[in-house]
Amino acid sequence: MTEPSKPFLQALQGKTLTTPPFWFMRQAGRYLPEYRELRKNARNFLEFCYTPDCAVEATLQPLRRFSPDAAILFCDILVIPDALGQKVEFREGEGPVLERLRGNGDLARLKSEGVCDHLAPVFETVRRLAAEIPEKTALIGFAGSPWTVATYMVEGRGKTDFSRALGWDTEDRAGFARLMGILVDATAAYLIEQVANGAEVLQLFDTWAGALNEDQFRRLVIAPTKAIVEKVRAVYPDIPFIGFPRGAERLYLAYVAETGVNGVGIDSDLNLQFAANELQKMCVVQGNLDPLLVVEGGDKMKTAAAEILGAFGNGPFVFNLGHGVVPQTPVENVIELARQITSWGISQAQNV
Ligand code: CP3
Repeated sequence: MTEPSKPFLQALQGKTLTTPPFWFMRQAGRYLPEYRELRKNARNFLEFCYTPDCAVEATLQPLRRFSPDAAILFCDILVIPDALGQKVEFREGEGPVLERLRGNGDLARLKSEGVCDHLAPVFETVRRLAAEIPEKTALIGFAGSPWTVATYMVEGRGKTDFSRALGWDTEDRAGFARLMGILVDATAAYLIEQVANGAEVLQLFDTWAGALNEDQFRRLVIAPTKAIVEKVRAVYPDIPFIGFPRGAERLYLAYVAETGVNGVGIDSDLNLQFAANELQKMCVVQGNLDPLLVVEGGDKMKTAAAEILGAFGNGPFVFNLGHGVVPQTPVENVIELARQITSWGISQAQNV
């Protein structure tokens, strides 16, 4: 394989860089006034995601503010249920609301055939971004992982106790496995098209992985993730993956050992020493500043960011947050953090 010139891609090949590359999960969105302005152009959030003019512009906005090493496609993980024909709505102040899947009998209503046709506007967005982003910037495509997407499809909303999804898995394991299989296939097809149109890295978001015990984690997080990675790599053998099994604690080790990801997103709760001593030996780590410290800013943010740079900066590492930027985050703090990461590299270089 030839050596890539973009720092983010070099890091994902396991290279240690003097200045660690960085980007921030949810770096586009409501904390940016220019996003809130642009968002007024669309009647609803899904329409915004399916309008390439809007999605391209929303992706580029953070690049103009603080030049991260990667741009992440502006879209949402819930376009997969939408493309499968499930009713998905984003309500102001309430988040996503879906018409619930109640069991095996509802699976027949999901339409797997038309998924990529439905998502054609997203691929156009990817294509335009690949042509428009700065030369040093890598383009990340993404999808939700089957477990996390399934929780929204079965619970009808986010942040629940997952009793419906877990109850379905307990009472009708074969039926729930069928749902996971539908999601593996749709997600792999979706990601393959993203790469075909110019995505250079793929991230899988498993926001609710931390709700599972070890047996469930192996069946519902590791196995489907591994299946997606294999399906995409059957077409694009060299495509780098970053997995983000948020809240997985010690199961991060099994996740990295078994799924085939090149990099792993670590959440803010993961112990830094554990991540540095055990995980970073196995793959590139990406994380993990608490997003609430970016809301706070100042010395507390700086000290925590310096600690993370110190723990991971001398190995294969991508600086990021432990979860997404939240809407109340002051933009100046994000810019200040970007400056700190970049100058850390310079000061390290002067010390040698
Ligand atoms: O900058 C980026 O990171 C790219 C865009 C992106 C969005 N959602 C835009 C968005 C990405 C990568 C996501 C992923 C996503 N979506 C996840 C996984 C990561 C995570 O944060 O845990 C999840 C669980 C979702 C589902 C989702 N979408 C929820 C729960 C919500 C409502 C809560 C919220 O944050 O608003 C959304 C809506 C959403 N997705 C918005 C944006 C910018 C806000 C909607 C709006 O602007 O009207």
